[in-house]
Amino acid sequence: MQKKDLDWGGLGFAYQPTDYSYVSHYRDGAWDEGALTSDHSLRLSECAGIFHYCQEIFEGLKAYATEGGDIVCFRPDQNAARMYDSARRLVMPPFPKERFVEAVERVVRANAAWVPPFGSGATLYIRPFMIATGDVIGVKPADEYQFRILVTPVGAYYKGGVKPVKLQVSKFDRAAPHGTGNIKAGLNYAMSLYPSVEAHAAGYADNMFLDPQTRTFVEESGGANFLFVDKGGTLVVPQSATDSILPSITRRSLVDVATRLLGMTVEQRPVTFAEIGDFVECGMCGTAAVISPVGQVDFDGGSVVYGMGEVGPVMRTLRETLTGIQDGSIEDTFGWVHKIDVA
Ligand code: PLP
Ligand code: COI
Repeated sequence: MQKKDLDWGGLGFAYQPTDYSYVSHYRDGAWDEGALTSDHSLRLSECAGIFHYCQEIFEGLKAYATEGGDIVCFRPDQNAARMYDSARRLVMPPFPKERFVEAVERVVRANAAWVPPFGSGATLYIRPFMIATGDVIGVKPADEYQFRILVTPVGAYYKGGVKPVKLQVSKFDRAAPHGTGNIKAGLNYAMSLYPSVEAHAAGYADNMFLDPQTRTFVEESGGANFLFVDKGGTLVVPQSATDSILPSITRRSLVDVATRLLGMTVEQRPVTFAEIGDFVECGMCGTAAVISPVGQVDFDGGSVVYGMGEVGPVMRTLRETLTGIQDGSIEDTFGWVHKIDVA
């Protein structure tokens, strides 16, 4: 199979249409069989639920080319499960989990020429999403939906890749206590756009959001969970007392990598903002972010500095181990890597 002629190493995190997307429609209480489409646009009623009451959920995962020439993705069953939970919370019809994984396989296979080559630093980003397409005017869930998967080749999410970035502590919240912060719904990201534009304008890569109830605990950034390392080398992973952090698949995988593969001690607990100056490393983790080191966090009245020079040793090891498992250069003893057969 002939790869597309792209400058793979020069890709940013931006959309470019590929050959196929996947689409399935929900009508009369059932999902149809689903199909690939080369039409990357949608035509919808002006009264579709998505436009009025924001019934939209999404996922993000990646396909990787391995050194051995295979195409794989990482724990797609976990994205299927999280999307199922997101759908339930927004009263949308969950897309069956096995069908989610099959649809990911199908759309990646059809776009194999767009999977960036091994070693290029780029990957094929897979964005499953679901919207309410049925008409609603009173506030209620719609009765028709569309599930789609688009794929697009991407490079690093934060400019500079593994160079440490600066964050600011946001004056705003990204989610309400016991609201929808723990699901992957577009409405959470709409909430985060104003603070995100404000952070970028002030020269920051992203925001650090605090817990929306007491504003004393660290929650997450606009698109990734946090990880810290204390002076004794323990990996400290923030938990939310208000259930407003997205359960990152990358973070959960790194906890397993740290404990079971690297023999590290891991603490998963609420982390106060007041203690972040005691840590020696900080990073953001997620599908798009991979592990992006945080060099400095500015807040009203001061800064915590981890170092803007180089990624710290623990974040580097975690990043290299995880990406090694994903691209096949480190043996996957967890059963996380999902091979996609490309005929
Ligand atoms: N937190 C937020 C707000 C996100 O958007 C993402 C991205 O999906 C993550 C965390 C990381 O989650 P995952 O590792 O499953 O990609
Ligand atoms: C992902 O990591 O897949 C996300 O959805 C995060 C988003 C901010 C790009």
